[in-house]
Amino acid sequence: MSAPKIDFIDLKAQRRHIGQAMDDAILAAVHEGNYILGPQVKEFEGKLAAFCGAKHAIGCANGTDAIALPLMAMKLRPGDAVICPSFTFAATAEVVAWLGATPIFVDIDEATYNMDIKGLGAAMSTAKQNNLTVRALIAVDLFGQPADYDPIADFCKTNNIMLIADSAQGFGGSYKGRVAGSIGDFATTSFFPAKPLGCYGDGGAILTAHDEYHAVIRSLHVHGKGTDKYDNVRIGVNSRLDTVQAAVLLQKIAVFAEEIENRQVVAKRYNDGLGDVAVTPHVMDGCVSTWAQYVIRVNADKRAGFIDALKAKGVPTAIYYPKPVHQQTAYKRFPVAGNGLPVSDRVCHEVVALPMHPYLDEATQGYIIETARDALKGAAAAA
Ligand SMILES: Cc1ncc(COP(=O)(O)O)c(C=O)c1O
Repeated sequence: MSAPKIDFIDLKAQRRHIGQAMDDAILAAVHEGNYILGPQVKEFEGKLAAFCGAKHAIGCANGTDAIALPLMAMKLRPGDAVICPSFTFAATAEVVAWLGATPIFVDIDEATYNMDIKGLGAAMSTAKQNNLTVRALIAVDLFGQPADYDPIADFCKTNNIMLIADSAQGFGGSYKGRVAGSIGDFATTSFFPAKPLGCYGDGGAILTAHDEYHAVIRSLHVHGKGTDKYDNVRIGVNSRLDTVQAAVLLQKIAVFAEEIENRQVVAKRYNDGLGDVAVTPHVMDGCVSTWAQYVIRVNADKRAGFIDALKAKGVPTAIYYPKPVHQQTAYKRFPVAGNGLPVSDRVCHEVVALPMHPYLDEATQGYIIETARDALKGAAAAA
């Protein structure tokens, strides 16, 4: 029997679900011709802020710029440091380096893959030893689960530093009743197509309750504009959300809550089907993950065989992330907190992400689960 066609993330299934409305919205935006900062952008920013309960939302060109713009607004500069996890996509730390400042990497909690708050004190000492002033902390909602924001926010308050929530993966999830996007001084997200709320190209947004920073970021993302775009009052960038992408996102945000619900069903089926043969994800009490990724852990020396066995049966997988950022060539020169990041260094060899999207039907998922179980048993037999 030939292997079935399974998508890692099936964006076409979502297109079928949304139907003609999406094509109509895109074509309408094309016909209207307001390609830059057209009315769809403002409308979408309003809906995005309302979705998570944030005061202001600013669309921008991608999720990387979304983190950079608040740091620019804070005037981050050389000699400053920003604490962030290393087990994340490089963009989290990249923007700190853009501005000549120093990321200080901390380890993750093994159960949640999010920043381990136990490492934060060591990060402050590392900053001191390197004569750096810690100005901000970027927490990441890895794989869709919000970081542990209560203790993180307390830490930021005690040390008088800004909290940026990199919710590129977790936007729309919740932490003790608060929706990710409304947490922190700034929350940022990405609309990269594979994200839980993705568009048909690149896009991102910043959410904040700070009126003054909101005004500065609105200026920064359009070349530092003042009263109009030919009045430049600060050095800015060109980082706008496209009108056509905003039109796409308006359709997608209308089904986003329902999709987050569907993702819970899919995640539960995986948990129930694989919990006895692999390390399945742990979501903290009082939290809802958006399940940007469904990641299990298998024995490091069995991982390649497991992935190959799934591939042979038509089941795609991905590894997030094969190398933590502090081990990447470009980032090795930056400090890590304490005596290294043993959990990040280990789990990167064990993680495997399985197909995950809100339209994964029970029969297809049953096949994935059975295939994964067989592969894990085969791997165990070979041990
Ligand atoms: C945690 C995290 N931060 C930032 C980004 C950057 O987003 P973008 O690709 O839209 O620039 C991503 C996207 O992959 C991400 O996963």
